[in-house]
Amino acid sequence: MAENRPVFSRGNLTLDVPMRMFEENRTRLCEALRTAEGYQPGSVVVLQGGESEMRHSSDHEPLFRQESFFHWVFGITEPDCYGAVDVDTGRSMIFMPRLPESYSVYMGALNPPEYFKKKYGVDDAYYFDEIGDVLKKDKGPLLLLHGLNTDSGNYAKEAAFDGISEYKTDNKILHPAICECRVLKSDLEIEMLRYTNKISSEAHKELMRQIKPGMYEYQCESIFQHYCYYNGGMRHVSYTCIGASGSNCSILHYGHAGAPNDKPIRDGDMCLFDMGGEYYCYASDITCSFPANGKFTHEQKLIYNAVLKSSRAVLAACKPGVNYADMHRLADRIHLTELVNIGILKGDVDEMMKVRLGAVFMPHGLGHMMGIDTHDVGGYPEGVSRIMEPGLKNLRTARDLKARMCLTVEPGIYFIDTVLEAALKDPAQSEFFVESELAKYRGFGGVRIEDDVMITEDGVELLTDVPRTVDDIEAWMAGSASAQ
Ligand code: GLY
Ligand code: MN
Ligand code: MN
Repeated sequence: MAENRPVFSRGNLTLDVPMRMFEENRTRLCEALRTAEGYQPGSVVVLQGGESEMRHSSDHEPLFRQESFFHWVFGITEPDCYGAVDVDTGRSMIFMPRLPESYSVYMGALNPPEYFKKKYGVDDAYYFDEIGDVLKKDKGPLLLLHGLNTDSGNYAKEAAFDGISEYKTDNKILHPAICECRVLKSDLEIEMLRYTNKISSEAHKELMRQIKPGMYEYQCESIFQHYCYYNGGMRHVSYTCIGASGSNCSILHYGHAGAPNDKPIRDGDMCLFDMGGEYYCYASDITCSFPANGKFTHEQKLIYNAVLKSSRAVLAACKPGVNYADMHRLADRIHLTELVNIGILKGDVDEMMKVRLGAVFMPHGLGHMMGIDTHDVGGYPEGVSRIMEPGLKNLRTARDLKARMCLTVEPGIYFIDTVLEAALKDPAQSEFFVESELAKYRGFGGVRIEDDVMITEDGVELLTDVPRTVDDIEAWMAGSASAQ
């Protein structure tokens, strides 16, 4: 890196990230706040970083991962820190825990604030116990982070410290402003997402080359994680790996502790691997679906191509001004049309759309914002409402697209017994099914194709780079394609 300024680095195999990225984020945030309704001069943003924890009642510390808003503003990797930004001047300050000298035996040298000031390229660094002296009580309010995560239903944690009640505070204007800044990625953030996608795409491809019937699903998960860490410096994955085969492919978040990717993969199974590496807290979220033995059966090809058709149609249609709920409906319409062509459904697709039949086959949303969080913030700002219809109600954003948004496009068709049973009992939906054909696909599992994109001025930049057509997948898995 030519730049003689601080960078995050995991060495020359990986991506160097200049601290300028966070400086730019802070500048963007201050600009947004200064023009926000209700802004008072002299305001200071105060954020509390993620806290270290112990595993249950033990003294074992799980690997720390920074809180996402705090990461976006400061890029600090350590736990138990605070940070502040003077909104009028942009001056940045961080507050580090004062650790007892005895910790050095376990943690190595305990660095002073001056070290962290240089490491993170901030204007000032202090010990946390100095925060009450540094932040002035006679200035504008402290701006605190209070707001709902519209995916989890959880609230952001407001900064708190002894003595904060002596300050004027405002917890209204920061959250919407910072969420909107996080939605629109800077050039350096886009570089991050290109990198996370590059490494994660390569890792999926490595798995597609190595997989064989007889392996366990978790061995595939392990190949992916090893590739991302060894070749990309990615110590974390963005979310728990979904490594499904056979009928498990219809379990949307398979891989959780109760279903831990532990089935042996059989010859003839379809597989669905939804896995993404995370680098310096930036995510990727990629799903590849393919046959375990490298050769699609007739039925597998039909369902795969139906999903590929919707995926490519959505990618071609996304551009600024397009509404994402309309993209979800477009994917539904293509799935239903293709399911009629396959023979599983019969009747008029417009009528099927009216009874939301698409949600029987794709009960999840078409995609979501992506960035520091896999399901990134900003999907439903004030003025954008969730559409409370089957399928659409699970969509994590119903916004009009804008340049610099990064999203996933992840259509899928699944054969989920409980959902199918309910549809077959519903007279409004059951009339469209050809049950004898549907029976052939019971236990099939499902197919999802998930790509990450950045919205450009007139379309999308596809960040994910994996084999997608049936021919490309078969050639890649057979080892006869050298590159994608
Ligand atoms: N991996 C979770 C999702 O695709 O949203
Ligand atoms: Mn995913
Ligand atoms: Mn996703």
